[in-house]
Order: sequence, then C-alpha cells, then structure tokens
Amino acid sequence: MSPSPVAAFVAALPKVELHLHLVGSASLDTVLALARRHPGGGVPTDRDELRRFYGFTDFPHFLTVYHRVNRLVTTGADVVTLLDGLAAELALRSVRYAEVQVTPVRNHMAGIGYADLAAALADGRALARERHGVELGWVFDADAALGPAGAEETVDFAVRHRPEGTVGIGLGGPEAGVRRADFAPAFRRAVAAGLHSLPHAGETVGPDEVWAAVTELGAERVGHGIGAAGDPRLLEHLAEHGIALEVCPVSNLRTGAVRDVAEHPLPALVAAGVPVTLATDDPGMFHTDLDAEYLLCHEAFGMGVAELAAIARTGARAAYCPTQLRDSLLAEIDRVEAAHAR
Ligand code: HPA
Ligand code: ZN
Repeated sequence: MSPSPVAAFVAALPKVELHLHLVGSASLDTVLALARRHPGGGVPTDRDELRRFYGFTDFPHFLTVYHRVNRLVTTGADVVTLLDGLAAELALRSVRYAEVQVTPVRNHMAGIGYADLAAALADGRALARERHGVELGWVFDADAALGPAGAEETVDFAVRHRPEGTVGIGLGGPEAGVRRADFAPAFRRAVAAGLHSLPHAGETVGPDEVWAAVTELGAERVGHGIGAAGDPRLLEHLAEHGIALEVCPVSNLRTGAVRDVAEHPLPALVAAGVPVTLATDDPGMFHTDLDAEYLLCHEAFGMGVAELAAIARTGARAAYCPTQLRDSLLAEIDRVEAAHAR
C-alpha cells in the first residue's frame, strides 16, 4: 500500500528534533545487547520481555525503568554506539539536526569518567555527521532527583569539558515535590558561561512550575511545558516572548502524563500562538519516531500539510544550530511544502 499523501509529505519534510534523551533513544536491539552484557542489571534480555518492561504504569515508574537502562551504559564506547544508532534513526526520518539531552552525572554514576564521556560525545558527533549526515547538539540535563548539588556537578561538566556542539543546560527527572526555583543558582552559572537555559517543566505538573522555569531559570525553551495550558496569562507570555515548548505527545501518553490523546493540549497551545515544536523524548522506550509524532498531529488533531510545515519551521527557528543550516532547512521546508500542497 502506498503511504497517504500526508505520510509522504511528513517523510520528505526536513525536520529538527529538539528534545530527546540519549539513553531513551536506544533501540530495542541496542538495549538487548547491553542487557545481555550485564545480565544482573535488572533489564530483560528477551525481546518480548523488554517490550513489556517498557509498559509504564505512570511517570515515576518510567523514571525507574529509565535509570535501570541508564546503568547498562558503562563505557564511552557504549555512548558512541548509542549515538550511531540514534543518528541512523534520525536520518531515516529526515531529521537534519537534533539536540540530545545527556545526563552526565547519571552516566558518571554508571561508571563513565567525565573526560571519557566528553571524548565519546565528540566521536559520536563526528560519526553522526560523517556517516549519517545528521548534526547533533548537546543539552546537559541535571536530574532533579539529585538535587541542586547534582545540577552544580552538571554545570561543572558542561563548563569544564564543553564538548563541541554544547548548546545548553537542562533539568529532567521528577517534577512532583521538586521546585524548579531550587536550581536557579546552577542555571545562573550556566547562563553566565554562555549556555542556553532549556529545562523540562510542566510535563506532569501545572503552570506554576512553567512560570518558575521561565522566571527563575530563564528558560529560553521549555521541555514539554504542556502544563502551561491551564494559564492563559502564561500562554500569552510564552507567545509574546517566543519561548517554544518541546511537545512530545506519544511520551505524554505512554507515561500517563496525559490520559487520552483527545485531552492533549497541543492544539490549544498552537491556537494560543505559543511556538510548538514536536519531539519524541525517549523514542526507544516509547516506541515512537518523529514522523509518528507528526502523523499523530494529523490523525488526532486534524493538522494538514500547512500546519505541519509550520511546526517544522518553528523547530528550525527554535534550534540552536548554525545559521546556515537553519536557513537551508527553512528553504527546503518551503520547497517540500509547495511540492505537497494541494
Ligand atoms: N522527563 C524527565 N526526565 C526524563 C525524561 C522526561 O521526559 N526522559 C528521560 N528522563
Ligand atoms: Zn525529556
């Protein structure tokens, strides 16, 4: 069966992906290989069992599973393997540029030295460009579960090692019971060192923490941010200041952050004029890819070629990529849209 016209358009559309986590991007095959190398690690070594292992009951359960898989990644060579697989998958979906969330303190806890991690990121980035034609940038995210001290250690890594392609500082992990504001000193230091502020906020909690991300952490984009939908004044602020949200619909459904696709706030965010980009978050764990996210917007929200092209443009504009790459992406989006417009 030939793909629908919109599916063909999405496949051809050149895209950026601004929110995906290194460990969560690992394919089933890669995770199985790692699990078989570390059979005591609590991650299934059988494919069907691994699929079931990726059935998340709620967001905290997802984080527990994520940490188990993270502990299988123990060497710089493992990191390069993950980046090679990730770049191959991105190229398959016409993704030309991606910003990858790397959690250095968690990698360090799994046994990778900081200098080895920086070297592996440099090698993986070169390989992504040369073998797959994909440009990568790095967002070094602190895990909120490790508190402000973990965030300071994350900034230390980013500032001391600053691998090529370093874009910003992030904040992931749990949101409930955590205050974004507690991480303000670490973010201030990162921003003073020239890093962009790109925290998660409003994935599983409401608008107050998105406000905190913006006002206390100086967020220039927000990971998820869907909790903003409850606050018209916040939506106005995001729209007015061009603060883009990195929205990951399949992730929200798989973690239970949103119960039903019909309840997903993405259409309301777009209608409010908030810059919305689409991303996969943890594509290996959520069984998704960027084309699937675009197609979900078509199928569930009725978005057509023009609306999907607009989302791709928002991504290109919100990306901290080289200007030349952004300009060529925007020109190519125009061409692909014109070829598929009816
Ligand atoms: N949110 C917070 N922490 C994470 C996520 C996420 O979506 N994915 C991996 N770590
Ligand atoms: Zn995330």
